[in-house]
Amino acid sequence: MLEGDNIVELLELMKKRRSVRKYTDRQISKKNMEKIIEAGIYAPNAGGGQRSIIVGIHNAELTEKIGILNLSGFDRSKLIGNFVSKEQPSVIDEPSIKNGFYGAPSVCIVFTQKNFLYGIADAFCCAENMVLMAAELGIASCIVARGEETFDNEEGRRLLKEMGIPDNYAARCFVTLGYCDGDYPMPKPRKTGRNIILEEL
Ligand SMILES: Cc1cc2nc3c(=O)[nH]c(=O)nc-3n(C[C@H](O)[C@H](O)[C@H](O)COP(=O)(O)O)c2cc1C
Repeated sequence: MLEGDNIVELLELMKKRRSVRKYTDRQISKKNMEKIIEAGIYAPNAGGGQRSIIVGIHNAELTEKIGILNLSGFDRSKLIGNFVSKEQPSVIDEPSIKNGFYGAPSVCIVFTQKNFLYGIADAFCCAENMVLMAAELGIASCIVARGEETFDNEEGRRLLKEMGIPDNYAARCFVTLGYCDGDYPMPKPRKTGRNIILEEL
């Protein structure tokens, strides 16, 4: 667990943060969810437009319902045989997983405008800020994709309406939130040859 580690260095926090795919039932506090959403709201955003909307689902049952919708249209035939995590298998590794949010008790949904060129980039900038904030708070998280697909069904459209999401907005990604069940994953070694600094060419 990162909780209580008293991490002060941002780079150390970045190195320790991992995607968590096994959660206990323990719910996070609403105060911590507010902080995590605030971190997302302060993310860099294209043109300074502040267009993204972040909805926090602080309800385990509803989170599970949306997590199941997240995988309901998942097409395994397009996977390219990558192994994501041996310690905590992802939906790509383990076909028996039915909840795309892995049993996390909370999730945040990041929405951006459908017709905006940088909508997806904006959303994932929010998500990155949010997972780092979560790690700082000792909260486990995972960025999850398939935002639009999740709500592209009758139940999904009903949920969006109930949430009051404008018609020109689409869900881009999710940030699952909760507490890690078992050992927090170890920092992942980096592939070499990916950092280049040039002073002249
Ligand atoms: C754009 C993007 C989409 C992702 N989508 C998923 C997803 O749908 N499901 C999932 O379990 N993890 C997803 N992840 C998490 C990655 O699998 C994870 O970040 C990667 O394996 C590296 O592991 P780490 O986060 O523990 O360092 C996504 C990450 C990014 C950046």
